[in-house]
Amino acid sequence: MAIALQGFNLDRLLERFHQKFGNNDHPVKQFFAPGRVNLVGDHTDYTGGYVFPCGIDTGSLLLIRRTRDEQYRFASTNFDMFAQLPKEQINQKYGDNWINYPLGVVDQFIQRGFNIDGIDCLFSGNVPNAAGLSSSASVEVVTAFAINKLFDCQLSLLELVKMSLAAENDFVGMQCGIMDQFAVAMAQENHAMFLHCETLEHRQVPLSLDNYAIVLANSNQRRELNESAYNERVAECERALHLLKQRLPINTLGELSADDLEANKALFHDDNIAYLRAKHVTTENSRVQAAVPALEQGKMELFGDIMNASHDSLRDAYHVSSDPLDQLVGAARSQPGVIGSRLTGAGFGGCTVNLLEKDQCDAFIRNVGNTYEAKTGLTADFYIIHPGAGVRQVGA
Ligand code: GLA
Repeated sequence: MAIALQGFNLDRLLERFHQKFGNNDHPVKQFFAPGRVNLVGDHTDYTGGYVFPCGIDTGSLLLIRRTRDEQYRFASTNFDMFAQLPKEQINQKYGDNWINYPLGVVDQFIQRGFNIDGIDCLFSGNVPNAAGLSSSASVEVVTAFAINKLFDCQLSLLELVKMSLAAENDFVGMQCGIMDQFAVAMAQENHAMFLHCETLEHRQVPLSLDNYAIVLANSNQRRELNESAYNERVAECERALHLLKQRLPINTLGELSADDLEANKALFHDDNIAYLRAKHVTTENSRVQAAVPALEQGKMELFGDIMNASHDSLRDAYHVSSDPLDQLVGAARSQPGVIGSRLTGAGFGGCTVNLLEKDQCDAFIRNVGNTYEAKTGLTADFYIIHPGAGVRQVGA
């Protein structure tokens, strides 16, 4: 029996699965992983810092069947492509294609000695791609979770998170931190997650918004340099850490205080960029640590101010904003009832996350949409967020 899942028709998808891959006796299982939105704490995860994401109620659905024929078939309802690979080819990248995400995950299982002897996979996603909402982590995590179940590998959820991250780092080649895979796997409905990315200690914090709403605005800006610019930021943080280690007993930038950074500013005389990156990281970590209690104590205005400061730092010190994102944030902040607006995720395009009074949502969407279009010629999409649960099996 199919369970209703926002935006998906599971019966129809099962029909499509059979059209693509044919009928046989092997059962088809269904799994779902959400996307995520990060409320505050961006570009801190890969330096062992703090983040505060929540799951959303859209994401990736996977219909999957074990085939035992040593063939690996991938299709998606979002892209017109079908790939069938023999076992000899599944440890190699498949061009620049989205199937590298599930392939990287399969490769992780094989590296651990599991006999993954053939699968048919149909993916269907309803989180926009390249919008900073972790569509790729949701594909990785749903694949890892499904294979773990289907092949009875008995791996823990945390291990699946780490394998999904390794798929992204080692197979796809994006040097991202653990936030997205962790959030997509472990999110809880109506909660956000306060996560320390170094120790992986985390706490679920109720997202009681009362009279407020969280609205995402998708800039729909093409993100072409995303991967290389992201990896460049990772390298710049490594440079900063390397310089600071000459004077300070630290292993990650996440351990660095703003005071220690300022006291050692002279180390950066030849590398102001590395200084700016470290400055963002230290201040952003403090912001997350202040934002979580603010939310818990219902101090929404303070939470909004912290969101605003986060965007300004991502723009001025980390240089990952863009003109369209700044236009969206500027338009949002001039609307009545908006208490915070910032880019979310990696930046370079994608979405902003906005905290506003609930009864202002319609006016916000209309006015910000119009201003944005007038200034940039681009059309924004808007989504009101419902914090959703992490990866799970959804069908029979
Ligand atoms: C991307 C990465 C994450 C994180 C964010 C920025 O979403 O996948 O690991 O670094 O950017 O906070």
